[in-house]
Amino acid sequence: MHASTAAVLASLAGLAVVGAGCGASAPSPPPEPSPPAYLTDAAYRRATLLASLVNPHDGYAEDRIAHYATGAPGDWDALPEWNPSAELVEASELELPGGAPTTTLSDRAAPLDTSLTVTSIDDPALVALGQQAFERYPVQPAPYFSVALTSASAAATYGLWTDAKRGVGGLVRARMGDGSVTLAMTCSTCHAAPSPGGIEPGLSNRALALGAAVLATEPWAPTRMAAWGPGRIDVTTSTGLEPARIPDLRPVAFLSYIQQDATLRVVDPTTLAIRIETLVIASNEEAVRPPRILALALAAYVRSLASALPSFDEAKAAQPEGAQVFESACTGCHVPPTLSGEPVPLAQIGTDPTLGDSPSRGTGMYRVPSLHGVGTRGPLLHDATLPDVDAMFDPSRLDPGFTDRLHGTGPVQGHLYGLSLTDAQRASLVAFLKAL
Ligand code: HEC
Ligand code: HEC
Repeated sequence: MHASTAAVLASLAGLAVVGAGCGASAPSPPPEPSPPAYLTDAAYRRATLLASLVNPHDGYAEDRIAHYATGAPGDWDALPEWNPSAELVEASELELPGGAPTTTLSDRAAPLDTSLTVTSIDDPALVALGQQAFERYPVQPAPYFSVALTSASAAATYGLWTDAKRGVGGLVRARMGDGSVTLAMTCSTCHAAPSPGGIEPGLSNRALALGAAVLATEPWAPTRMAAWGPGRIDVTTSTGLEPARIPDLRPVAFLSYIQQDATLRVVDPTTLAIRIETLVIASNEEAVRPPRILALALAAYVRSLASALPSFDEAKAAQPEGAQVFESACTGCHVPPTLSGEPVPLAQIGTDPTLGDSPSRGTGMYRVPSLHGVGTRGPLLHDATLPDVDAMFDPSRLDPGFTDRLHGTGPVQGHLYGLSLTDAQRASLVAFLKAL
């Protein structure tokens, strides 16, 4: 792998952050001071960062503690703001001879308009800017995806969706600091996917074959990237052997810990904004930073996605029997109304411990995913091994001869809860989960 690609992929460790609900009992986060202190007060950003890091001694935390809002000259606050001219790759461009251009910009290209004044994180204008940024802001250069833009079938091979309005897998062309043009991913490349209603923001792009695209264009890249498979990315970079699922962002507002190994405690919405800000910094070799208004707008937009998901009471009304099973077996960890809760030690949950033990950012725990949206989400578990709730609550996944896992081989261990219920109880439980 090219050194810069390694750095960029490593930086994805910083990828996940989310702001919202304090534990299981509080469905909505505490309000930010107004105007948001994240925009005005470096000491507040620093304090929030420190309060959010669950394991201050892993690589993820140490990098941020050393460089973020330290007050010292030359830390990340001193980096130039990055809001380049960019444009979506259009679906119709895949029909051009040779495919979509990857090194030239049209006169459609423009930076995002960041000239708004916000009074609160719930400001609709801020959420609207966040949506634009989610769809168009170049988070991270991805020149290797040129291999997927030669035709519509190449795009499909690498898991890029196409849409008349939303373009090709959320990829953009962006003007770099040296004047050249490069392909870049947006949040939507990983965190949007086709659904019956069109391209749905927040859904994991379970088809995205990022490792395969890197291997196809950078023959020196480590072959272990092939094992990532679709829908997974190694965000730790120390070995390349710890791929994580691209998670569903729709329920982020319900989470009190973000990143599947519970790297960050959600102190307030600023935690999510810092997570996004430092992700962009790390993804761009620590040479630029996003305008803070954009990081805050992205946090506001991601938090807003939860409002479209069914509530616990709606699912309970639709599937009362399954809700009863759920309340007797599951709410110790998936606590209503958020259906998330305190992280669980690896030995207790029993799923694959590789990510949770990672020296780069492990905490020795996995966070409890919110089950809001679980009926329309997939794949499941932090390592994306199971396609859906049917597979998760089918006890045959424990059989030594089990062959239906999405990645790897052998049985899918751990999270035994619900597996010893009767067939009828499991059926009603699964029906309830599908109503969420
Ligand atoms: C290359 C694919 C990719 C891109 C681009 C990307 N992410 Fe992610 N994101 C991931 C992966 C993989 C994880 C899981 C990391 C983990 O669990 O440790 C993640 C995790 C997250 C989380 C934490 C979710 C949770 O459930 O804990 C948030 C929030 C998030 N991303 C927001 C964003 C935003 C906002 C953008 C755009 C600025 C973005 N991501 C760009 C792949 C990506
Ligand atoms: C001891 C705490 C605990 C209990 C009890 C528990 N869960 Fe979980 N659940 C977790 C954790 C932790 C994970 C994440 C595991 C991982 O990613 O490896 C999880 C993951 C899940 C997932 C996968 C969601 C996703 O997005 O990947 C589903 C579905 C789920 N649980 C449903 C249930 C149901 C239904 C019950 C009751 C039968 C239950 N859980 C009981 C802690 C618990």
